[in-house]
Amino acid sequence: MYFLVLLYEVFLLLLFLLLILLLVSYTASVIYGAPFVPINKKYIKEMLLFGGLKSNDVLYDFGSGDGRVLFTAIKEFNVLKAVGYEISFLPYIFSKILIKIKNLENKIFIKRKNFLKDDDFKEATFIYMYLFPEVIDKLAYQINKFCKKNIKILSVDFKIDLNKHPNFKLIKQNKIGNYYVFLYENI
Ligand SMILES: C[S@@+](CC[C@H](N)C(=O)[O-])C[C@H]1O[C@@H](n2cnc3c(N)ncnc32)[C@H](O)[C@@H]1O
Repeated sequence: MYFLVLLYEVFLLLLFLLLILLLVSYTASVIYGAPFVPINKKYIKEMLLFGGLKSNDVLYDFGSGDGRVLFTAIKEFNVLKAVGYEISFLPYIFSKILIKIKNLENKIFIKRKNFLKDDDFKEATFIYMYLFPEVIDKLAYQINKFCKKNIKILSVDFKIDLNKHPNFKLIKQNKIGNYYVFLYENI
């Protein structure tokens, strides 16, 4: 009997810790720019096709969540490399576990880092982002500064403000499922 009570208490404690972790993780992503709202898996391939992703691309997902876009880029397009930045602990750890299970440690690299505080973007040839406009705005300055020219930038649901960022050119836009997608090139 005593053992059962102890087990129950340990279970409650673990549940409580998990809730705290979820809350902290969610709050972090909100504070840093956009909460973890994953894109619907069934549209990822179509979006990347729309963006013209090729097997010789290196894809960066700024705010990679559970890594679903990175996995699709590797599985469906066989890109050279897929790199993600994810500030929120839970989706980050989940994506790392998936990478290990799928044995993709030499193809997918995820940094638990605020991408607004990094500048190591020189390898990117294709950028995917599903973020709020304020973050897109800050990130656009960084892309301009730290990325190669003439790379593709695919933004879901929100546009880059071309008045503020004249070095970006809108190539095309479309609606895929319920999402608006905007494809840019930095010139
Ligand atoms: C809307 S979700 C998109 C997730 C994934 N890219 C997808 O399309 O399914 C945005 C993600 O960006 C992450 N994020 C927001 N701001 C960030 C920052 N400054 N640095 C790193 N990750 C960030 C959030 O934690 C969240 O997981």
